[in-house]
Amino acid sequence: MQSQRERITVEAIRNSKRAGRKLVMLTAYDYTFAKLLDESEVDMVLVGDSLGMVVMGQADTTAVTLDAMLHHAQAARRGVTRALLIGDLPYPSLHGSGADLVSDSRLFVERAGCEAVKVEWADGIPEKVEAAVASGIAVMGHVGLTPQTAAAEGGFGMRGKDAASAERIFHQAQALANAGCFAIVLECVPDELAELITSSLSVPTIGIGSGPNCDGQVLVSYDLLGLYERFTPRFVERYARLADSVREAVKRFGADVRQGQFPAEKHTVHLEPAELARLKSRLPA
Ligand code: KIV
Repeated sequence: MQSQRERITVEAIRNSKRAGRKLVMLTAYDYTFAKLLDESEVDMVLVGDSLGMVVMGQADTTAVTLDAMLHHAQAARRGVTRALLIGDLPYPSLHGSGADLVSDSRLFVERAGCEAVKVEWADGIPEKVEAAVASGIAVMGHVGLTPQTAAAEGGFGMRGKDAASAERIFHQAQALANAGCFAIVLECVPDELAELITSSLSVPTIGIGSGPNCDGQVLVSYDLLGLYERFTPRFVERYARLADSVREAVKRFGADVRQGQFPAEKHTVHLEPAELARLKSRLPA
């Protein structure tokens, strides 16, 4: 599709479905991680409201504010030069008026420098998405398990396990695509439903816990890297155990400090002997 450092556009994300090229999306919440992901050639960096859980230590994502999202999106922006940067609209932005959704989305674009926003399914959302898309904002949809409303819908777990709920999710994905979404996240739906939705849409689906038959995959980077240990969903593969590495490094630092081995000579700057002598001559005896 594009050469390695060419910027990924919304158009390129749409085209990758036609080209049969799988899309890779991961979450980041700060400059350092966003830069590492970008350098590792992910297609999309999502500043997800999973921020509430993995960064802020909250039980779920419902208390995440617009200000917090914009703050972290601005930090991530400084690390991303290639991938498409997407900001997740928090709960209050989705549950106000359509005008609120459009103006909050505009803040992600104009203040934080995001190229797109993501919206979770909620009643009345397609009309609000249509208004955002009509005003020139690129929107990604999200159906299936929608963490912002999970508590009210029976908690975190699979969605669409019976024909009636699967049909509902199928139509929600259609409605978001018809409203102009350029891609749809499918979270925690059975493989067969993901496949039916994926083959029915002209825009790509990005799966999380929804099997291999999506046009791309997304994970929360703190899960993938083994940093967030409160719980690990079944669909997560841990590609690293960074929490263990962090603890080990911090313990070694602590031991070196306590034993007087850090800082060593190579970390230390000395005064020139003449300056030291001059200093001592000025100090009280
Ligand atoms: O907030 C988030 O990280 C997300 C992804 C899990 C898709 O919405």
